[in-house]
Amino acid sequence: MTHIVVKGGTVVDGRIKAEADVVIDSETRRIVEVGPDLSGDQIIDAVGCYVCPGFVDLHSHLRQPGGEAAETIETGARSAALGGYTAVVAMPNTNPCMDSAAVINEVYALGKDAACEVIPSGAITVGRGGEELAPVGELYDLGVRVFTDDGTGVQDPALMRTALEYAKGISDAGDQDIVFAQHCEVSALSAGGVMNESEVSSKLGLAGQPSEAEELMVARDIALSRLTQMPVHMQHVSTKRSVELIREAKEAGINVTAEATPHHFTLTDEKCESFDPVFKVHPPLRGSADVAAVKVGLADGTIDCIATDHAPHTADSKAMPFDQAPPGMIGLETAFALANTELDLDIEQIVQLMSVRPAEIAGITDRHGCSIEVDSVANLSVVDPKVEWTVDAAASASKSSNSPFHGMKLRGKVKHTICNGEVVVKDCEAQR
Ligand code: DOR
Repeated sequence: MTHIVVKGGTVVDGRIKAEADVVIDSETRRIVEVGPDLSGDQIIDAVGCYVCPGFVDLHSHLRQPGGEAAETIETGARSAALGGYTAVVAMPNTNPCMDSAAVINEVYALGKDAACEVIPSGAITVGRGGEELAPVGELYDLGVRVFTDDGTGVQDPALMRTALEYAKGISDAGDQDIVFAQHCEVSALSAGGVMNESEVSSKLGLAGQPSEAEELMVARDIALSRLTQMPVHMQHVSTKRSVELIREAKEAGINVTAEATPHHFTLTDEKCESFDPVFKVHPPLRGSADVAAVKVGLADGTIDCIATDHAPHTADSKAMPFDQAPPGMIGLETAFALANTELDLDIEQIVQLMSVRPAEIAGITDRHGCSIEVDSVANLSVVDPKVEWTVDAAASASKSSNSPFHGMKLRGKVKHTICNGEVVVKDCEAQR
């Protein structure tokens, strides 16, 4: 039996903040002791660090099956572990997409040996085509709890209503809730747009996507959540009015949650002036008032969590002209540092946003986002909040290097990650 002791750190789990060592039994994979001056067979140095529940990303594109040139489940999960994540929800826009038991089972199988837990999401509609419901009940029986057509939103409000009502029956009869995560974008309004519609897009002569393309669907899904009494999670919220709509909905007691990405709380559409496709993403980078509103939303709890929307793309595809390149940015290894550097939040709030709340939304609180106490499953992230480093996109464990943060100096780094009782990242190095 090996006892791993995480030594000298400050435990922060969203409930308490106290100096303590944490002992993990690598056989049972659980925490067996928390307290001062503990010993074990393997020492993990946490001096000067926070010991947090492992981070949970509700929004990762791992590209497998079908997009292995850009990422695999193995490389994406390694990148996630280096970013302090012990669980990621894999988006369904693979090829074939995650709308069948066969593909969901394939993702589970590929994730078995990965450096973090890989949780497949299920598509809401067949082929993410927006016309016919996917076999939600069959996928639920396989353990799928998060459904999304991410990459696109479900355009037809009647189909979305049917999906929510159908899933409510399944949720109510089953042991766990289903959550629908929506990529809020009315395609008829955003069609052809390659960046935010703004003065910047006019100046650059690039076709824009108006904020309203997002806000209309946020408003619509708030209404559908109220109508069906089903939870809806708003993905990658990027505009000021979206934040306001969600705030008003929560005040009215409607069951909605939301996420924001690091790029939407740090970068503005002015980055597109470089015409560098590394800054092309959906929803697009917005204006400074939107960035400020997203930050306020994260601080006041309107936005429940930080999600990466890690979207790897090959160097060849991102070498295309701005208007032709695919949208998306990698982000798993920089999310914590960006939150720590750019947000005026304390570590307890960051733990809520990156671990506790996303674990609750994904329905995985039996093993993630838990209190750091005896008997909890050992999913931990040890972060140094002070160390400064410079992002090197090429050094990422992702198969792709399309990071908009390359060259940026950040404060705070993930030092160790312990996933299911195993040290998968030690001293900033992946162990598998
Ligand atoms: O920028 C994006 N990239 N937004 C999405 O919704 C999809 C993602 C991808 O799959 O590349």
